[in-house]
Parts: sequence; C-alpha cells; structure tokens
Amino acid sequence: MTDTPQSLKVALLGAGNVGSQVARILTEDAAMLEARIGARLELVGVFVRNPDAPRDYQLPRELYTADAAQLVDRADIVIELLGGIEPAKTLIERAIANGSAVVTGNKALLAQSGSELFRAAADAGTQLSFEASVGGAIPILRPLRDSLSGDRVTRVMGIANGTTNYILDQMDTTGAAFADALAEAQRLGYAEADPTADVEGHDAAAKAAILANLAFHAPFSLDQVHCEGITSITAADNEAAAEAGHVIKLLAIAERIRTEDGTDGAVLRVHPTLLPREHPLAAVHGAYNAVFVEAENAGHLMFYGPGAGGAPTASAVMGDTVSIARRLVRGGAGRTHTPKAVLPALEVGEATTSYMIVLRVADQPGVLAAIATVVAEHGVSIEAMRQVPLAEDDAVYDAHEGTGVPASHEPAESLLRIITHRARERALASTVTAIKELDVVTDVVSVLRVEGN
Ligand code: HSE
Repeated sequence: MTDTPQSLKVALLGAGNVGSQVARILTEDAAMLEARIGARLELVGVFVRNPDAPRDYQLPRELYTADAAQLVDRADIVIELLGGIEPAKTLIERAIANGSAVVTGNKALLAQSGSELFRAAADAGTQLSFEASVGGAIPILRPLRDSLSGDRVTRVMGIANGTTNYILDQMDTTGAAFADALAEAQRLGYAEADPTADVEGHDAAAKAAILANLAFHAPFSLDQVHCEGITSITAADNEAAAEAGHVIKLLAIAERIRTEDGTDGAVLRVHPTLLPREHPLAAVHGAYNAVFVEAENAGHLMFYGPGAGGAPTASAVMGDTVSIARRLVRGGAGRTHTPKAVLPALEVGEATTSYMIVLRVADQPGVLAAIATVVAEHGVSIEAMRQVPLAEDDAVYDAHEGTGVPASHEPAESLLRIITHRARERALASTVTAIKELDVVTDVVSVLRVEGN
C-alpha cells in the first residue's frame, strides 16, 4: 500500500491580481482545502521579479523568490500565473519534465503552444489544467471536456472578453462613442493602458482557439482564428442594430461546418456580431462573460459569470489545484487534455452567417430592384428590407462618423436596411463589394454579421 502524502508542495509563479488571490486562498482557506483534499497544500514559494515589492496580499518575505527554476524544482504542483509566452513556457516545460502537475490561466500560451504542452504532459504522465484561461470563474472547459464528452458539440458562441463587452454595452445603453466608452473602461480598470489585445479581438481569439480544442476534441491554434475587433463600431452601427431589434456583441465563435464539396471542418472567428435582443447572450451586460453551447443531444446551454478579476479567476485556479491534489493523494497518472479528433480549420469564407447591411441610397425608382438584383446574382437571398426616408432618420445619419446632414437637406436619399438569409460568408462579402459599386448607393453606413436568428 502506498503512503498517502500528508502535504503537497505548491509553487506559485506570479503574484499579480490573480496570483495574490491564489496566495490568499491557499493561506486563509488552508484548513478547508486540507479537509477536501486529504492532505495539506504547502505553499513553498512565489516567483516574482522583485521579491521586496509590496503585494496586494502580503506573505512572509522569505516565500518570495526571483529564482523560478529552483522553485519549480521543489514543487508537486506548479501554478503559473505569469501570462505571456516566456518565461512561462520554459517554466511549464520544466515542471512537466520534473513530473510535476501544472495549473495555468495563460490563454496566450495555450492558444499558441497548447498541443505541444498537452502532449508533453501526457507523455510525462502528469497533468496540465487550465480552467482559468477562458471565462475567469465560469466553469466552461471541464463541462466541454467531460460533461459533454458523450455528445457532439456543434457550435460555441462566447462573450469571452469582458472589456469589449463593457464598451459595447455602454455604447448600446448610453449612446456613447467608442472612444468615450473605452476611456470609461480604462478609468474603471477593465481595459489596460494599451487596450489593443482586448479591442482588436486578440484576447477573445486566443479563447476561441482554446474553446474549440475542448468542444471538438481536436487541436486548434490562434493562427486559425479569423479575428476582427470593435474599433470601427460606430454609433450609427448601434442605432441601426437597435432599430432592427438587435444588439452588438463581440463574439468568439467556433462551429463545425460542412463545405459545399462535403469536407467537414471547423471555422473559428471573432468579430462584432448582431444578436436579437431576446437571445440569451444579448442579456450579458457590463464586463460579464458568457458561453453559449449548442450540442446535438443536450440542445442549448449557457454558462455565465465574471470573466476576469483576481478572486473570480483564482476560484478557477483553485478548482484545478484541488482536483489535481486529490488525484495525487489517491495515486494514479495525471489526465491531460489530448485532443484526438481530426477536424481541419477552414477559411472564414466557408462559414454561414447572415448580414445586416445599411445603405444610403438615392430616392429614385428602380433602386430597390437594382440592389435586389445584385444580391440575387451572388446567390444570397433577402430576409427583410426596410427603407426609411432620410429626413425621418436624421439621428441615424448624423451619428455616422464623418458625415452630417446639411441644414438645407432635401430628402432625396433614403436609408435602406437589408437583412439577408444565411449564406456563405464568401458570398455575403462579395455581395457587399458589388453593392458598393452601384451608382445609386451613396454610402455604406453599416455592415455587420447577424447570429442567433
Ligand atoms: N482582458 C480580459 C477581459 C481579461 O477583458 O476579459 C480576462 O482574460
């Protein structure tokens, strides 16, 4: 009979927002954790660049070290909360080579090198867990990997970035311009001083790759995600969305598709998306996250909660840590996610979606017919079309950046809102290009994809 360990050595890499909260929970909830695990979690050290700097949650000075390698070599469980690629990758590889289990929240690293790290952990018979990498506190990766492993997930749509959800929600509810909503997000501490990773969609794209790995049990990486951010969303887009009964969300979408020639694959995409107001994801406000999952047998599921922040993300880190510790107490090899299915990543042009297109058009006979003809020529059909004389709709027109209605404006133009049926993205994009070239179209006010309809 093997001896049950009385304690397990834990190394913490990073003492930022999340790391400080993990240190707090390990310290203040030590008795609860020991009772649940059957062994004590002993925090043997915290790797930080400057051991003398003050911390949000201050541990005894002797626990802080700038020697990460030496700390990793002493641990049964390594919790990596440094973020970024290096030195996180080298330290995780070192821990795995030592046979230690690893918990990480590092979405950028997993989206880039997840397959390599999962394989290394599986070969070493140890465990690499990463619930905190997507959706903060929301338990979403374990349900995709385990609870739904007897089902076939067809689509995952996530509000996976709290900063952009806050900005878009502000634009929708207060009519704020993008720049003002971003400034407010920075003032509240949601957005970084350099907001690029959030507003350009890169953070959501990394999460899309991770979600797809688990949902489809196949390897995907960041470079396979089509990514568009929210920087070009205008008040005119929001007005048009609201008039059509929709709201704009930045969605990370991973879906199984079959191409016209019968190839099965997956399309991964991040872009601003119109959702009907009654869609469950439309009700996700502020900096919250949510992931909407569609599965063949389960139907529709939604996972909702705080997607960032020290304590919420630390909750997910601790869930992984307790799970690993219980397994170490019980004995047996670690179980690491090793995607086995073969599902090629396909170009975004293969996705099916629908578009809402808002145009400024000349108010003259034959305009609607000319536009309908171009749409039909591209194999796209129109679900709804609505024309509003411009004089009745100055608010929308005025809000479109860079344009304005002259005081003496004669209503010789209209706004035309077209919502298409679902079609291949490729056909929809070329339809918009052709529409732009029509003489009767004086401006393309808004083009956004629509989901959930
Ligand atoms: N910047 C991210 C967000 C933090 O706004 O959601 C969590 O990954």
